[in-house]
Amino acid sequence: MKGTWEDMEKCANLGLAKSIGLSNFGVKKISEILEYASIPPALVQVEMNAAWHQENLKKFCKEKGIHVSAWSPLGANGAVWGSLAVMDNPILKDIAIASGKTMAQIALRWLIEQGSTPIVKSFNKERMKANLEIFDWKLNEIDLEKIKQIAQYRAFKGERFISENGPYKTAEELWD
Ligand SMILES: NC(=O)c1ccc[n+]([C@@H]2O[C@H](COP(=O)([O-])OP(=O)(O)OC[C@H]3O[C@@H](n4cnc5c(N)ncnc54)[C@H](OP(=O)(O)O)[C@@H]3O)[C@@H](O)[C@H]2O)c1
Repeated sequence: MKGTWEDMEKCANLGLAKSIGLSNFGVKKISEILEYASIPPALVQVEMNAAWHQENLKKFCKEKGIHVSAWSPLGANGAVWGSLAVMDNPILKDIAIASGKTMAQIALRWLIEQGSTPIVKSFNKERMKANLEIFDWKLNEIDLEKIKQIAQYRAFKGERFISENGPYKTAEELWD
């Protein structure tokens, strides 16, 4: 990680990259980078959505001034490893019905209100348009409290990165 980060810093210093950041790093791995970084990561991109809140990471990144970007903001329904934890969630469904928004809009707006940037994917023009219509309204306090109660579920377990012979022997070591 050290050598790679140093080379990424060289890219930034040469003007080849405006900003440099990380993906799928937890608190422990980001802390390690911060020990030697002369350019701290601008951003970390992780799985984050209304059913996987990333509370610890969010708090840590806020303290360190690192922006959190959320991949699979709708839970990647349709992907082999994805789930319906977001798009079939009864709490989000109730909030969507009561507020006249789509479930995707509720899930994406929640991420914006966490200070995160959702990277949502759609191949459907209408859904792409609707997914952007989240900037001129807010979730209310009651809805935010309800979303806090959603059962937490990490869709991407990363099992292929866990090995007896590798640096990460358990899921806890991989994701801290
Ligand atoms: N850094 C990483 O390790 C990592 C890992 C995974 C993903 N990512 C990035 O994150 C991006 C998004 O993640 P993702 O594709 O895994 O998950 P996602 O954006 O949570 O889900 C995509 C799925 O949601 C559907 N969808 C989109 N808008 C919708 C709406 N308004 N209503 C209903 N369904 C909707 C899409 O179908 P339709 O196309 O039919 O709308 C697609 O099946 C990807 O483009 C990828 O680059 C990064």
